[in-house]
Amino acid sequence: MTTVAAPTIHSAGKAASDRVYNFSAGPGVLPEPVLRQAQQDIWNIQNSGVGILEHSHRGPVFDKVLAECIDDLREVGNIPADYDIFFVQGGASSQCFMVPMNFIRDKAQTADYFNTGKWASDSIKEAKLFCNVNVVASSEATNHDRIPARDSWKFSNNPAYLHFTSNNTIFGTQWKAIPTHPSNCPIVCDMSSDFFSKPTDFSRYDLVYAGAQKNLGPSGVVLVVAKKSLIDSGRDDLPTMLKYKTHARNESRYNTPPTFAIYLVGQTAKWLKSFGGLKAMQAYNEEKAAILYDYLDRSSFYRGHVQKDSRSLMNVTFKCPTEELDKKFCKEAEKAGLDALKGHRSTGGMRASLYNAFPIEGVRALVDFMKRFESQKH
Ligand SMILES: Cc1ncc(COP(=O)(O)O)c(C=O)c1O
Repeated sequence: MTTVAAPTIHSAGKAASDRVYNFSAGPGVLPEPVLRQAQQDIWNIQNSGVGILEHSHRGPVFDKVLAECIDDLREVGNIPADYDIFFVQGGASSQCFMVPMNFIRDKAQTADYFNTGKWASDSIKEAKLFCNVNVVASSEATNHDRIPARDSWKFSNNPAYLHFTSNNTIFGTQWKAIPTHPSNCPIVCDMSSDFFSKPTDFSRYDLVYAGAQKNLGPSGVVLVVAKKSLIDSGRDDLPTMLKYKTHARNESRYNTPPTFAIYLVGQTAKWLKSFGGLKAMQAYNEEKAAILYDYLDRSSFYRGHVQKDSRSLMNVTFKCPTEELDKKFCKEAEKAGLDALKGHRSTGGMRASLYNAFPIEGVRALVDFMKRFESQKH
């Protein structure tokens, strides 16, 4: 398999002439070299005379694709050897029930959850089918504009695990540190929207999951990174497809997995390596977000949704002075080649998603547009 070309994302200038800047919250922008490589490999991968979409998930070509993908993810993510890395389906949404279903043994048990937005509250809702849920802290009262302050946290005694959502895609908040529990219970994290956007010390987590469609690849596949001992401790009395063990112990191919999605995750991991790894990625993501937040801080026209110390590097949410102007902003931005800026219906306003593959030139283009829009007579 050919490896992806060196990143062109640092190159100055515009998006390719037939592409726009894509601020979508997910599925989101993918690295250009990955898309170009995929175009070739759809036709003929590894000189096999067959495209990646048409190969058996148990043949030698896909064996290599999958093995390289896992090796590259382990290398670029610095994932310890005693952690399983595997793929599941059903979206990150299915993880909301798979976690409690696999690890809760008795309905009388309690699990601790932080409620920091829609995805966290979806997890809470599903967990309640299996156990008691203790909400350690919630940002609901302030429309999820912050990560709850430490002095508001109320842990339960000896929970089965602690769950949190590292980046709140809809509202634009992000945890700056891992919230550990006094009992040292397992830590479970939904990292769907900031996975592999910065270095992560996986040894401090017990199970992490992420839908691929923001920083890792296309929709249709979820990556799980989990301590082998935790996976082995999971319940056996579940339907086969709903046991983590099934997927971890069968190299993610107990059934036919989404082979093309896995291939694209593998190519994205190669691209991350060629980019300089996660430290370089973090620096780039910080630089991009700073351009936009600095401008928002200086403007008296736009308002950010989130408290400064909780700001996400991945999803930047902001508003114009009125809803009408928000609508006008999105319409005119689209005409200017700045796509998918409309905020989620629960926050309104705008949301600029600046995932790994989003180019810095696009952030500059957005700020230039914002300046022009602000200076118009409204
Ligand atoms: C943080 C987070 N968790 C979970 C989900 C749900 O993912 P899916 O649509 O793949 O089920 C999303 C989707 O955007 C998300 O951003």
